[in-house]
Amino acid sequence: MRVRCVDLVVPPAEVAAARRLLSPAELCYADRGSPSVRDRRVLLRAALRSLAGHVLDLSPAAVPLAAPPGRPRLLLPTVDLSCSASAGVGVVAVAYGVRVGVDVERVAGATLAEVAEEAWLAPVELAALAALPVLQQAEALTRCWTQKEAVLKGLGVGLHGDPRTVLTPVPHRGHGSISDWQLTPVAVPAGWVASLAVRPAAAVPQLLSRGTRYR
Ligand SMILES: CC(C)(COP(=O)(O)OP(=O)(O)OC[C@H]1O[C@@H](n2cnc3c(N)ncnc32)[C@H](O)[C@@H]1OP(=O)(O)O)[C@@H](O)C(=O)NCCC(=O)NCCS
Repeated sequence: MRVRCVDLVVPPAEVAAARRLLSPAELCYADRGSPSVRDRRVLLRAALRSLAGHVLDLSPAAVPLAAPPGRPRLLLPTVDLSCSASAGVGVVAVAYGVRVGVDVERVAGATLAEVAEEAWLAPVELAALAALPVLQQAEALTRCWTQKEAVLKGLGVGLHGDPRTVLTPVPHRGHGSISDWQLTPVAVPAGWVASLAVRPAAAVPQLLSRGTRYR
């Protein structure tokens, strides 16, 4: 397992160098976005190629990545990938023999009451968050979101899955499990939170059925 935090705020020359690592299909996808989305996509994808190249002993441009959009996928079934970006910070993960999902978010400014209205937390999670000291709540609820999204990205369904059904171990500071997924915090700059979810490849169902609870 290799995980890397990526600075997505870099000079134009670094973006230009990163573009040279991407395939025509990746560049085409990146260039559909606004300049900031384009550069974020380019830098994140180049970082994913670099890390996968390091693991596979290939040059980044030679890494056999399926074309975007969607879950990043290598044309090698035993190696799995995931990536995420939030407000200038990216995280990429490359794993051998397991399924992986990663998510990074800037710590939210929203209150618990506001988040409750968005309905992505289960009642048991809301209660656990409310029991924390107020100063810990913003980071804890952002971590909660990153854990949910890491699992949903590991499953490959993203936000087509229902985050309320992914029940997180709220009081624990980043470590824990959800069903067969092992959760680990990823080191990122202060003000951001990132979570990694890893599961044995054979345990991942092909399809996430509606209403399935992951605990
Ligand atoms: C994929 C998704 C989880 C990304 O969430 P996000 O917090 O906006 O973005 P992140 O930076 O964490 O991750 C983005 C990367 O995840 C990867 N990704 C895309 N679809 C994925 C999926 N189904 N599973 C795992 N990873 C996926 C891509 O590499 C993507 O990078 P890109 O935006 O450069 O293509 C989310 O956009 C999604 O599920 N979309 C599909 C459902 C949808 O469109 N819902 C309406 C909007 S809420």
